[in-house]
Amino acid sequence: MSKKPEKQKGDPKTTGHVWDGIEEFDNPMPRWWLWTFYACIVWAIGYTIAYPAWPGLKGATPGLLGWSTRADVQADIDAVNESNSGIFARLASAELTEVPADAELNKFAVSAGSAVFKTWCAQCHGSGASGAKGYPNLLDDDWLWGGDIEAIYTTVSHGVRNETDDDARYSEMPAFGRDEILEPEQIDQAVNFVMSLSGDAQDASKVAEGAVVFEENCSACHGETGTGGREVGAPNLTDAIWLYGGDYATLTETVTNARYGVMPAWTGRLKEEQVRAVALYVHQLGGGE
Ligand code: HEC
Ligand code: HEC
Repeated sequence: MSKKPEKQKGDPKTTGHVWDGIEEFDNPMPRWWLWTFYACIVWAIGYTIAYPAWPGLKGATPGLLGWSTRADVQADIDAVNESNSGIFARLASAELTEVPADAELNKFAVSAGSAVFKTWCAQCHGSGASGAKGYPNLLDDDWLWGGDIEAIYTTVSHGVRNETDDDARYSEMPAFGRDEILEPEQIDQAVNFVMSLSGDAQDASKVAEGAVVFEENCSACHGETGTGGREVGAPNLTDAIWLYGGDYATLTETVTNARYGVMPAWTGRLKEEQVRAVALYVHQLGGGE
């Protein structure tokens, strides 16, 4: 066993703690460190008095300086709204058809409309507005209810087949199979006729009879030649652009049970200038008339 070294005079002081022969020096903290430490404590106390800090039941203590990120953000928003209020007012009262001629107003409306679209419309119509099954593509020239700015504005303000807006666009294709308006055989014929309008029927021998069924049951809404009817939002069936799908099974489902697509109304939920902005945005996407 090694012998513990003798204490020499001038050795640093120890605390007297010993572990396995290792002793702990009792050196004082450096002054600079100690004073920095005290300064931090004083600063922290001051900080919690000056700024929001201690959690309470109804939120944190507000702090003597009254500083608040929320109030700052609100002030920023107010400032932006304030600086845009003139142009928003112009948009709210402008003649919609004349907006595109006013370059400044149009640019503003389209960018504001694009923001509205991303927030409120993209979940159904897709972020690029190209639609999905049951949700129309808004980029093309194929319109259910009309593609000029006034028609788009009406669709957006009041929506389609919703129960919240009395002025919503409304129509109801009958559920020809479910409600036993047509025999399954007649539905089969009509579907084959519809397929023949934009391509090949599944069974060409049924097209002629299907034309008769169509004439009697469908043409009132979809038009004599199947090109659709905008007064009732009936899609064009000749252009191979399908809202729900153009294969035999999907068409049979559509004719048997109908679809009843619903779009919410936006007047009341959005400000008038936002509805106008998003209608103008949709109008200039490429399909606008
Ligand atoms: C909850 C889903 C939903 C949301 C959200 C929605 N839409 Fe629609 N939208 C629909 C459906 C479904 C239709 C088709 C209705 C039909 O079958 O006639 C439609 C139709 C339209 C049409 C008519 C297209 C045509 O061919 O005539 C326009 C324009 C339109 N939406 C714009 C918008 C705008 C702009 C917004 C956002 C402010 C929006 N939609 C939000 C579901 C939605
Ligand atoms: C009262 C008017 C009305 C009548 C009658 C009618 N439809 Fe429709 N049809 C519509 C509407 C409106 C839609 C749009 C879908 C919806 O209800 O959301 C539609 C949609 C369709 C679609 C879906 C097109 C797509 O793009 O996916 C097909 C197919 C169709 N109809 C075929 C028929 C056939 C076949 C008949 C006759 C047996 C018929 N319709 C009778 C109004 C009508």
